[in-house]
Amino acid sequence: MRRVLTGITTTGTPHLGNYVGAIRPAIAASRSADVESFYFLADYHALIKCDDPARIQQSTLEIAASWLACGLDPEKVYFYRQSDIPEIPELTWFLTCVTGKGLLNRAHAYKAANDANAARGEDPDAGVTAGLFMYPVLMAADILIFNANQVPVGRDQIQHIEMARDIGQRFNHLYGAEFFTLPEALIEDNVATLPGLDGRKMSKSYNNTIPLWLPQKELRKAILGIVTNSQAPGEPKNPDDSHIFSIYQAFASADETAAMRRAYADGIGWGDAKQRVFERIDAELAPMRARYQALIARPGDIEDALQAGAKKARALAQPLLARLRDAVGLRSLRIGVDSGAKTEKPRAEKPALQPVVFRGDDHSFAFKVLDAKKNVLATQSGFADPKTALAAAQAAMNGLG
Ligand code: TRP
Repeated sequence: MRRVLTGITTTGTPHLGNYVGAIRPAIAASRSADVESFYFLADYHALIKCDDPARIQQSTLEIAASWLACGLDPEKVYFYRQSDIPEIPELTWFLTCVTGKGLLNRAHAYKAANDANAARGEDPDAGVTAGLFMYPVLMAADILIFNANQVPVGRDQIQHIEMARDIGQRFNHLYGAEFFTLPEALIEDNVATLPGLDGRKMSKSYNNTIPLWLPQKELRKAILGIVTNSQAPGEPKNPDDSHIFSIYQAFASADETAAMRRAYADGIGWGDAKQRVFERIDAELAPMRARYQALIARPGDIEDALQAGAKKARALAQPLLARLRDAVGLRSLRIGVDSGAKTEKPRAEKPALQPVVFRGDDHSFAFKVLDAKKNVLATQSGFADPKTALAAAQAAMNGLG
């Protein structure tokens, strides 16, 4: 079983680009039998860029409802909110303490902020919070706490996955055990990036998005507003140089796309092309839009689903964190101080089988072999001393396997 994990920062309203680039492929992947999927609402990450509490809450609601409306099955996957997993911030601190500050200095997002400040002649750290600086460590904790094997991300996030590997490896090395699986980035190159209203990649930062759940009429209006060139109806058009076509392709089947290509060659007018794009997108979204509206009207149900998801996820996180606390020395004082090497002592496992030596009725020595439930699996008496009785018990246990 591969474990695939990804986080969604809760600062915005889902748009068509999120649907095509993240939600739809992730839900499709979550249906394959050989993966365990983890999808979470990265609301601690949201605090790094957003100090508007209403927006964080609203975005959390909208993103959770969107993923559920698009068909995510919370019974089959782990679907939870980051801030419901207290093991994540605790692990973040453990990781912080083994992460070189120099490593974080080299993070792209932090360096970009430094460079932008320098270009304006300001102090390099002007306006840079420690949250932005620590972002890669929090992200490493998100991933490492669940021992994820693969993390689907855009190219801009590859460095963060590499840092999670570095940090996890350093912790493993320092504390002498394979606590963490080292994750790999899963780059989805065949996932479409959708052009936005202005033709650049659809992205909140370009302010060119089409919200995913616009009512039908407004969706149509938005699509009619996508930029095109000034070619007239009747003129043959180049589909490979058309944002409208790229958007259509992201929703259409191969046959539908081929038919649209022919329509371009035949000089379809932009208005007609856009109408077809609208109809194709609306056909896919309409049933999900209805589910979304129903879900968003019952926020309590979404909260319940997230709480159930957190419970399921914490059942995995808690035992690992208990091991980590022990490994770093956050231990009960009732147990003796272990001043040995910084290696995890293999816990003395209770053997499944247990030998017991006792004095039999005839005063000879005897043994019995018990299983974990204290059933007697073997017994024999007539031994001259306890040592031979124990040796015989062990021989019997080997025989019992
Ligand atoms: N940083 C990611 C983004 O901005 C969101 C995220 C947070 C994430 N934690 C993660 C993604 C862990 C993958 C794994 O898109």
